[in-house]
Amino acid sequence: MKSLQKPFSVDAVSQSVSQIRERRPGFFPETALILGSGLGALADKIQDATVLPYASIPNFPTSHVAGHAGNLVLGRIGNTPVAALAGRAHLYEGWSPQQATFPLRCLHTLGCKTLIVSNASGGINPRFVSGQVVAIDNHIDRMQRSPFLAEEWRHDSLEAGQLYRHANPYDSQLIAEAQAIAIELGFALATGTYLATLGPTYETRAEYRMFTKLGADMVGMSTVPEVALANQLGMRTLAFSIVTNVAKPDAPTKTEHSEVLDWSQRAQSQLIPLIQRLLS
Ligand code: HPA
Repeated sequence: MKSLQKPFSVDAVSQSVSQIRERRPGFFPETALILGSGLGALADKIQDATVLPYASIPNFPTSHVAGHAGNLVLGRIGNTPVAALAGRAHLYEGWSPQQATFPLRCLHTLGCKTLIVSNASGGINPRFVSGQVVAIDNHIDRMQRSPFLAEEWRHDSLEAGQLYRHANPYDSQLIAEAQAIAIELGFALATGTYLATLGPTYETRAEYRMFTKLGADMVGMSTVPEVALANQLGMRTLAFSIVTNVAKPDAPTKTEHSEVLDWSQRAQSQLIPLIQRLLS
């Protein structure tokens, strides 16, 4: 597995950012997008696009998971200059949370003040159905791998003894705007609590049952490290989850990756126009 030499240093961020700037001089993105499941096709809707494969940017991790591309796309959606990460590195591939969130650090340094992120999840709330788009309004971190553990970062953002503030990482105003647009587009955008596991295994029935008791509405394997970092960097964050399979703890069903990809493809027809309007 490819590994980063110096993943956490401020120098690594500067090196990557100056490489990106060189490829698109004078471009200042305002919104960072992490195009996980359900949003991959948004990359093709970015106007005036410059596509940089992750492999061409120093220090960027590369994803090997089916359904995830590996490009940074710079361009515009509506009036908004955006920097989109088409494909993410997952912790279950072996990347540390510092490595997995490294591209987001670079986008923040490039000037992004807002983050919009998507993922696929298993629905735990029995009211959810496969293919449903949900706005995440809270999360439970069962990955328990913080992107802040690296020694090198302690100095740039934390006073000695200070802890990270993390009370409300999802921007309620952005959620309300997204809900209003969803109604215009003809669907209801529910909200829910997302529980993140390290993966890569889907849950046993006993685990789905346990997560219900913990208060989760959806379960997935990403997003929490990115949102934690965005929150610490002061970025406004909006996160969407595509429910690809609804957990039925009392009926033996098996979650398949192909099913997850299939439902997330279908949800794009709601989520992509929603984000296009939000940024216009
Ligand atoms: N569990 C965890 N992650 C997932 C699931 C699930 O059931 N479905 C899609 N991503």
